[in-house]
Amino acid sequence: MFTAHSPESLVYLSGFGNEFSSEAVPGTLPLGQNSPQKHTHGLYTEQFSGTAFTVPRAEARRTWLYRIKPSAAHPRFEKLVRQIIGQETGPITPNRLRWDAFDLPTEPTDFLDGLICLASTAAADQAEGVRAYVYCANTSMDRAFFNADGEWLIVPQTGRLQIITELGVLQIEPQEIAVLPRGLKFSVQLLDASARGYVCENHGCALRLPDLGPIGSNGLANPRDFLTPVAHFENRNEPVQLVQKFLGELWATALDHSPFDVVAWHGNNVPYKYDLRRFNTLGSVSFDHPDPSIFTVLTSPGTVHGQANVDFVIFPPRWMVAENTFRPPWFHRNLMNEFMGLIDGAYDAKADGFAPGGVSLHNCMSAHGPDNATAEKAMAAELKPHKIDHTMAFMFETGNVLRPSRYALECRQLQTDYDACWSGMATTFDPGTQA
Ligand SMILES: [Fe+2]
Repeated sequence: MFTAHSPESLVYLSGFGNEFSSEAVPGTLPLGQNSPQKHTHGLYTEQFSGTAFTVPRAEARRTWLYRIKPSAAHPRFEKLVRQIIGQETGPITPNRLRWDAFDLPTEPTDFLDGLICLASTAAADQAEGVRAYVYCANTSMDRAFFNADGEWLIVPQTGRLQIITELGVLQIEPQEIAVLPRGLKFSVQLLDASARGYVCENHGCALRLPDLGPIGSNGLANPRDFLTPVAHFENRNEPVQLVQKFLGELWATALDHSPFDVVAWHGNNVPYKYDLRRFNTLGSVSFDHPDPSIFTVLTSPGTVHGQANVDFVIFPPRWMVAENTFRPPWFHRNLMNEFMGLIDGAYDAKADGFAPGGVSLHNCMSAHGPDNATAEKAMAAELKPHKIDHTMAFMFETGNVLRPSRYALECRQLQTDYDACWSGMATTFDPGTQA
């Protein structure tokens, strides 16, 4: 339904506080003002705000859109019969949880129908919180969608996606990510037979690059590697279903025109993509591990000073050189809550059971770390410089407890024997000679 379009040129998103602009028709952006009395090309002017008007300038996100029809030109929304799977929160459990990879569909399933909510921290009307999904699809959307509940971070695990947005087109493949601002209209097209991946819905402050502190002005995800699309529009008066997610529910209306009719835009409330393979991974060159916050790609600050609402953290290929060090991730119990997925390869803390497309969930103070086999091997290993290659795991790490959905706790992908990977640990304590 939507125009296939190759995003030949993407522009660098060189800083989140900056202004970006793009014109599909030259001369469309008004000079010196945002909203002239009558637009030169007969377009409607619309502001798209991602923050309150009054936040500090460095936090403010808004974009001016110059479009064929204003977004307000739509009839009433009606609640859809088919809702997102897993919206109901399940019973409380403090247990460590892990899921096998979710099945690719056999019936026609688009990105929205293929979404499964696995866990959430809070209702969507809270100013902070996250919701974590997997998606499994085999059909392109022939409808448009926007999410009033939060920003979306899409992490493909298999299958390339073409995301047509109001501001232009993004193509992403596994090991790349896309971030779509709250409220942005978009449609997900599949470029391969099927697609599977993960979505983090962020109800809190928009994702941004973390501060680097003593690391300095370079490293981790570098600003120049973030790309935002160029303006692209459809001038078509054909019926299109526009779906929105509002407080967790899907509602739809029928448009008589394409919602992707923005001819030019300027601002900083924009979709963007990033290639995780460009992450400049830093680590220890002496002994011990830094905390995994050293692998933070993007962060959404929380209300507790220094504690993220959500961090997006990756575990990419990297050299391990630390001397006299237990090299896998150490055993730990954390305040933060960890939703983990695997995009490619194997994760160095687990010998098996954590497959690409799978998920693990370790909530506040749940004890975890390398499984028994990995720990035994690590303690016996002769330490030489070693490269962990062909791997890409990630975490949505949040300061709020992630409650699994009822679906997540009842689906057959939930592993019933996860605790067993830590069973049978040998007692190796030797008190030696007592004084
Ligand atoms: Fe952990």
